[in-house]
Order: sequence, then structure tokens, then C-alpha cells
Amino acid sequence: MDELKKKIQNFDQKTLLKCLKARGWEQTELFRLSRQVKEKVFGQRIWYRGIIEFSNLCRNNCFYCGLRIGNKKVYRYKMSLPEIAAAMDFIRRANYGSVVFQSGEIRGQRWEKYLLAIVRLTKKKYPGLAITVSCGEQDRGFYKRLRQAGADRYLLRIETSSQKLYEKLHPKLMSWSRRYQCLKWLKELGYQVGTGVMVGLPGQTPADLIGDLRFFKDSQFHMFGLGPYVIHKDTPLAAVNARKQWREDKAKIYHLTLNFLALLRIIRPTANIAAATALDVFNPSGRIMALQVAANVIMPSVTPRKYREHYVLYQNKPCLDEEAKQCLGCLTAKIKSAGLESGLGEAGTSPLYLKMARK
Ligand code: 5AD
Ligand code: SF4
Repeated sequence: MDELKKKIQNFDQKTLLKCLKARGWEQTELFRLSRQVKEKVFGQRIWYRGIIEFSNLCRNNCFYCGLRIGNKKVYRYKMSLPEIAAAMDFIRRANYGSVVFQSGEIRGQRWEKYLLAIVRLTKKKYPGLAITVSCGEQDRGFYKRLRQAGADRYLLRIETSSQKLYEKLHPKLMSWSRRYQCLKWLKELGYQVGTGVMVGLPGQTPADLIGDLRFFKDSQFHMFGLGPYVIHKDTPLAAVNARKQWREDKAKIYHLTLNFLALLRIIRPTANIAAATALDVFNPSGRIMALQVAANVIMPSVTPRKYREHYVLYQNKPCLDEEAKQCLGCLTAKIKSAGLESGLGEAGTSPLYLKMARK
């Protein structure tokens, strides 16, 4: 097992390829190794972040996402400050260590004012709570003001490390380099930065995924949130033959994501890795499986029930008809029965961030 670990950490291409495809006993071995690496750093502890999807407004038109501006079937919403305050109350009562404010990508002064107000209010009322923002690409000044207002962490997925594939999945107006620039700014500004990719994207090759792992290793991010690609019928990527293909590939994508997570854990032992909700589309225990194998963070939804059905990035998103309270109860029960420990009440700062901050 030590030899496998060495080969993975040394980026032996043949081993990485084999691991990505692993099933049966080879997959069991990979999972055992990844679990061992994770437990050495985090034990059985799972950290919670309550996620509030406070608006589904978006200016972008990503080819894979149900919230793209071109999808006119979506009812657009933006939660009011009192609605957000009520969701925050729940987060406090539930004793989550951190809140994630997520929305589509919107720019402009009014939006900035609104977001700054959300962050300031939260910081003032709940000073001990770690604040994470996930609102896409913004300019450096905005990221700076957000940080000054009290934001501690930022999530921005690079989506794929391959510029070529990125261009195939996004309209011309969007650019991989600009996204990467945003990630660099966020790091400079002292945020704990999280990024990630989608696994199983149309046109993505195993070499692309190895490229993603290399990108994660070299760029030293503190957190990762990555999950499987799930088709959404109202997007350009969901032509009829693509739907058929995706259904055929479903099992492959699920295992590929778990194997990718295991490799990432072995390569970045001290980073925080979240179990993506999208895994539950493939298997009702998908997220729990990811927590057993490699991930140490779960992000239960705190979005009010009436908005959930409108925040649909991909088809068959789970828990659309549940309230936040049910999400917490259901997940905690699953976590405990899987032999894991709940880390409620802990902010759960990435050990990698702490290590880098000490340098
Ligand atoms: N399948 C899986 N993940 C998706 N996202 C957007 N659309 C999809 C989809 N169809 C992810 C992107 C984005 C995050 C908020 O949701 O990676 O960064
Ligand atoms: Fe907007 Fe994000 Fe969806 Fe792209 S992935 S369309 S930026 S919400």
C-alpha cells in the first residue's frame, strides 16, 4: 500500500490512469489507502457548512448549467435580508460551524452593496462563524471589500483545468484565464480558497482528469468541492443523443468521481474536501460514500424550501422538498450510522491553510 501511495504522490501516470478506472479489488485498495490518509489528519470527524442559495440570478450562459441566463424557464429569485437572517438563525441553532452564501454570477454596484450587507450582518451577529462566499468571478476590488467586510473563505470552481475543454463548455465571453486570475486574487487577499471541477463532462478524457489533479497539486488550494457532471434537460449539452449517452455512462461517472476524490485525498492529505450533493443523484448514499472514502466536509442546504425548486443546476437534485431541519437530521443520522463523527460547532479551518499561514 505504501508503494501505491508513493506512486500516486509522485504522479506516476500509469498508476493514476489505472486508479481512475479502478473497480473491484483495485478500487477497494485505493479507497482503503485514501481513507487511511484522511483518518491520519481528520480522524472520523466531518465538518458542516450550512449552504444558503440566496439567489439564482446569473449573467452567464455555461452550457451545462440549469441556471444559465439562456434558460428562460427558470423563475428567478433573490432572498431578502430578513429571509437570509431567518436562515442564519437556523444555522446558529443547528450549530453549524460555517455558512456558505451561494448564488449565480451577478456584477454591479447594487449587487455588491447587497452582498456586503449580507456579510456584514452575519459577521456582526455571529462573529465566531466562518463565512464562505461563492458568487463567481468578480473584480479584485470587490473581493477585497468582501474580505474586509468579514468573508473568510471563497469557493470558485475552475470547472476543468483544460483550457481547451473549458472553451467547449462556455460561451466565448467567458475565459479560463480570467477565472484563474480570480483564484489568484482570492489567494493573495488571504481567503481560504476552494476550487473544483466536474467529473464526467462530455469530451473530458482521463488525461484531462490527471491534468486536474496536477493543477490542484501545483496551485495549493485549501479546499476542494468537486462532483460529477449531471445532465440538465434545458441546456445545450442535453441534446437527445447526449441524454442517452449520459444515462449509459452514469455508473462510470459515479465511480470515476469517487476514484478521483480518493486520488485527490492522497495527493492533498490536509486539504478540506467536500462531498458534493450531486453524488446523491447516482446513489442515495453517494455523499456518505464520498465521506467514508475521502471527503471530510458536508454542506447541508439551508435554503428555504420554497426556493429550492428554483435552484436547480442539474436534474434530479436531491432534497428539493425538504426543510433545512430535515436535511440536518437525515444527514447526521447517515453520518453516524456510517461510523463517522459529527463535527457540529466547529469552524473546521483547512489544516493546509493554517500550515501555510504559519509560514
Ligand atoms: N452538473 C454538475 N455540476 C454542475 N454545476 C453546474 N452545472 C452542473 C451540472 N449540470 C456546478 C459547477 C458550478 C457549481 C456551482 O455547480 O461546477 O461551479
Ligand atoms: Fe451561472 Fe454558475 Fe450556472 Fe455558470 S455554473 S450558468 S456561472 S450559476
